[in-house]
Amino acid sequence: MKRILIIGALGQLGSEIALECRRRYGTDNVVLADIRSDVNRPLIEDGPFYLLDARDGKRIDEVVRTHRIDTIYHLAALLSARAEQDPMEAWNLNINGLIAVLEVARQRSCAVFVPSSIGAFGPTTPKKFTPQDTIQRPTSIYGVTKVTGELLCDYYHHRWDVDTRGIRFPGIISSLTPPGGGTTDYAVEIYYEAIRNQHYTCFLRGDTYLDMIYMPDAVEAAIKIMEADPARLRHRNAFNIAAMSFCPEEQAAYIRTHIPTFTISYAIDPVRQAIADSWPDYMEDYAARVEWDFKPRYTLASMTEDMIEKIREREGL
Ligand code: SER
Repeated sequence: MKRILIIGALGQLGSEIALECRRRYGTDNVVLADIRSDVNRPLIEDGPFYLLDARDGKRIDEVVRTHRIDTIYHLAALLSARAEQDPMEAWNLNINGLIAVLEVARQRSCAVFVPSSIGAFGPTTPKKFTPQDTIQRPTSIYGVTKVTGELLCDYYHHRWDVDTRGIRFPGIISSLTPPGGGTTDYAVEIYYEAIRNQHYTCFLRGDTYLDMIYMPDAVEAAIKIMEADPARLRHRNAFNIAAMSFCPEEQAAYIRTHIPTFTISYAIDPVRQAIADSWPDYMEDYAARVEWDFKPRYTLASMTEDMIEKIREREGL
């Protein structure tokens, strides 16, 4: 049975990986940590929780020893748009947090999951069928930290035999915990605004294609890669995974099949548009499918149906 520590456990991805890991491995075997404790109270009160800064290696080490942790999910990071507002803070958290975790993992023999992103690619990367191994010259500071993170994880594996594993996530769409500060956040906001106001003003152009994934498939992927037979993993850090690719116009059309009065307009944010334009339209994910059986279930149609149902339920509409 695994003994897991999730750092950044109250965020969009962390809160749902935490729920699923506690269901699969038992609540006491899944320790949560975050820099804040003012959100997701039920998750905090349900089992072990520590207030900590991801850069505080000493405190992470204490928690790892106290709970005999063997696997760390390191999810604390600034996302792309937020990172552009304060590039030094983005570097500080995204890289110094990662180094702190990798050092603990090296000393205590923990496996580590580290998310990379479509943001690890840039304008010179092939935009369609983006290969697993290709040009990575991102132009955002977020992307710079993601490529650095991928390389650091590879280094810790080769140099110290740390069992690092990772995924390049597309935009993640979910209804439990909102994302914050990302370029792909529009794809979540659109559902809430469609239900509340039948209208959404989008900050990206209507024809901007990006890879996206629905949360249940993202959680399944993060758990599956950590369960995978290491002998099969050739790529280890930063597998492309692509569940679906769409643009705001197409998403709006699918929403209209449930909410016919829904309308969309555009007020382009140049910073986020430039970031989105530098990312792939859709990635090729053959390596993830062959090396650890990645197999997403949701399409834009089935995700839209589920999101609308879940948000209506949550908002009592
Ligand atoms: N969802 C992230 C962002 O938009 C990409 O990894 O920043």
